[in-house]
Amino acid sequence: MKKKTILSGIQPSGKLHIGNYFGAMKQHIEMQEKGDAFYFLANYHSLTSITDGDRINENTMDVVLDYLALGLDPEKCTFFAQSDVPQTTELAWILGTLTPVSLMEKGVAYKDKVANGLSPNIGLFTYPILQAADILIYHSDIVPVGEDQKQNIEICRDLAGKLNRAYGDDLLKIPEEHIVKSVATVPGTDGRKMSKSYGNTINIFDEGKTLKKKVMSIETDSTPLEEPKNPETCNVFALIKLLADKPLREDIAEKYREGGYGYGHAKKQLLKLIDEYFEEARERRKMFAEDQSYINDVLQTGGSRARERAEEVMEPIRSATGLFRSFEY
Ligand code: ADP
Ligand code: TRP
Repeated sequence: MKKKTILSGIQPSGKLHIGNYFGAMKQHIEMQEKGDAFYFLANYHSLTSITDGDRINENTMDVVLDYLALGLDPEKCTFFAQSDVPQTTELAWILGTLTPVSLMEKGVAYKDKVANGLSPNIGLFTYPILQAADILIYHSDIVPVGEDQKQNIEICRDLAGKLNRAYGDDLLKIPEEHIVKSVATVPGTDGRKMSKSYGNTINIFDEGKTLKKKVMSIETDSTPLEEPKNPETCNVFALIKLLADKPLREDIAEKYREGGYGYGHAKKQLLKLIDEYFEEARERRKMFAEDQSYINDVLQTGGSRARERAEEVMEPIRSATGLFRSFEY
């Protein structure tokens, strides 16, 4: 049986944090064993929020190093930069011509920005169209993403149907949704969703003093040390839960309930757990960071594999839409 095509992308728009890891990256890495996986750095998407070329490039390289250090294996999956597949923006344009403006106006991310008084650009307005092209250009079967991406996947399915109805039934494959449910939203140091837009992140590769300062700053209530505490409502415990094995988790929860265990103790425990959990990845990251030619090879190989697949999907669409082309890639 043919392996299913799995596809997901991550925006290189800042340092990746523990929420990104448990909410997305960990599942991506696990799923590379389960199908024909395509993972990419969504650098075109990052341009909707960052307009500094050096920063985009730096962030992209950072995310590549993060993924490789955390266990993504470029021999097992196709790992590449979105900008290495120009067919993506080509398809996005065609999809855009079939997209009602009213569909984009319902976009949650877009509406949020408007509600927050920002003046959004057209790139942000049509972000879901580019995301649909990312998915459809490889005939993806499964798209593992967090709950927050549900609307974009629905839009993608909708647009694939519209293109097939307009130009021919088998041109695009309608993907399945695959919402990653294994982890609840990871809280940041202030208790809100951990997010780079809130400045409340603990980054995966934070170390030493920086890491300690962030962990010690996690907000807790003011229950005195000696009194019993509820682990389930504590931000520190929510993070401990992700990192500790079951016996340790239960042991710490018990200490919370007994009293005599302060939030300072819990934070020290959390710090130790983060250090242990990411220790190997940190070492690997330092190794990869010194080998730029390996990184270039990985992206070149991934990009060329992705382009080849994208071209197979794009060529019949070009013909069906009557677009003239006098050269071949
Ligand atoms: P950010 O909010 O920091 O900008 P992104 O929106 O770029 O993060 O998210 C990238 C991926 O990480 C998405 O798949 C998203 O679902 C996941 N993710 C981000 N923050 C969290 C979190 N706090 N808890 C769980 N998953 C998260
Ligand atoms: N919008 C996604 C995010 O913010 C990133 C993304 C871009 C993506 N294109 C995609 C995810 C295609 C899955 C499939 O996390």
